[in-house]
Amino acid sequence: MLRVLCLALCGLLTHAWAEPGALLRLGMDIMNHEVQSAMDESHILEKMAAEAGKKRPGVKPIKGITDMKVKDVKLPVITLNFTPGVGIFQCVSTGMTITGKSFIGKNMEIIVVVNITATNRILQNEETGLPTFKSEGCEVILVSVKTNLPSNMMPNVINKFLDSTLHKVLPGLMCPAIDAVLLYVNRKWANLNAPMPIGQMGTVKYILTSMPTTTASYIQVDFSPVVQQQGGNAIQLADAGEAPEFPEDYVEGSSQLLLSAALLTAELALLQKSFDLNTQDRRAGKLPSQTTKTLAGFIPEVAEAYPKPRPLVTRVRINKAPKVTMETGESLLHLHGTLEMLAARRRRGKAPVSLFLLEVHFKLKIQYSVHENRLQMTTSLDRSLSLSRKSSSIGAFSEKQVTGFIADFLQEAYVPAVNDVLQVGLPLPDFLGMNYNLAELDIIKNALVMDLKLD
Ligand SMILES: *[C@@H]1O[C@H](CO)[C@@H](O)[C@H](O)[C@H]1NC(C)=O
Repeated sequence: MLRVLCLALCGLLTHAWAEPGALLRLGMDIMNHEVQSAMDESHILEKMAAEAGKKRPGVKPIKGITDMKVKDVKLPVITLNFTPGVGIFQCVSTGMTITGKSFIGKNMEIIVVVNITATNRILQNEETGLPTFKSEGCEVILVSVKTNLPSNMMPNVINKFLDSTLHKVLPGLMCPAIDAVLLYVNRKWANLNAPMPIGQMGTVKYILTSMPTTTASYIQVDFSPVVQQQGGNAIQLADAGEAPEFPEDYVEGSSQLLLSAALLTAELALLQKSFDLNTQDRRAGKLPSQTTKTLAGFIPEVAEAYPKPRPLVTRVRINKAPKVTMETGESLLHLHGTLEMLAARRRRGKAPVSLFLLEVHFKLKIQYSVHENRLQMTTSLDRSLSLSRKSSSIGAFSEKQVTGFIADFLQEAYVPAVNDVLQVGLPLPDFLGMNYNLAELDIIKNALVMDLKLD
């Protein structure tokens, strides 16, 4: 019972304290683009008009008018505004021509201009956990009405028609259009919390931390991403102390995505094993062939132990989870492990002999870019590495003697291997068909911020 209580309580606590690992700010640029393309793609107003023109059984004909048709629906103009705490206020201005025959058999034509307004509340769908817009309080406002019938001829018919009919008919006709557009927009969130692969090693899911919030200039979605090992456990995001925040200097109306260093660290933990490396001389990147003779240039004792040069074998083992840190303008990947140098044996199939084993801590500078909607990292060695000798079969030597040698090895042979591993790229939240390729990247304290640009 106590266990159950703790599970429930601790669950609550960790949830309450969980810092968002990623934040998304949706400005008006993206919302306008989304709603506009949803309107265009759905051809929704035209469909509504066509629907209105159809005779439907059970629907009362409009008194005094027969053969009613709706045609020439004008291209809608959409205006959106954020409503703090709620979502988006949407106004669709459009016009159309209604034709019919009046009861005395005359062709009549009514040109109406209307504004359809509604509040699109942003919620979190309870079933799917995804953000979702829901329209509320849809109203149709008649902006102007023109007709070919002289108003003095049949004022009653027209007035009656306008009052009792347009006001009653148009909302039923036009408001479903707003819902249909939102359905379109909502559908584009569908992949957001699906697991996305990070190479073969695991997945990341962008799960909403809470209900999205709306301010006067953006909608913010907080994510608690779940990084999962292939067939294994979720990797806990480290608590960074203070939650990273957006800088305030972005253009009003623009949109940004923030990825915390903690999230990138958790994702790279999946790749830890791939950062291990075994090399033989010929595989050591751009370096000239490495033998015990090369090493003897730094540790003379090696020449005594191996008068005839033997190829060197190097083993790098990363034994702590890699860590990503970020300060304004600079990001580092910290790696801890061991580096062992061995001399290959003359006979094939014989295990190489260990010369020495160093404990190493080194840092790689990370450059970020986006390629095919994945975050790409390219690294280069920060030469301030720290080495400490753990074992040696060639006698005592000072770490200083080999620091330059090891640094060259890391830069030329190890870093290219790490960069190959990093080519898998890290998945970015898949929402509203976002294309990240044009995003501008900025490294701030404890986070990477992408300033999102539309095509
Ligand atoms: C209709 O919408 C347009 C565009 O938002 C706005 O400029 C106009 O004032 C609205 N008219 C009425 C009568 O609400």
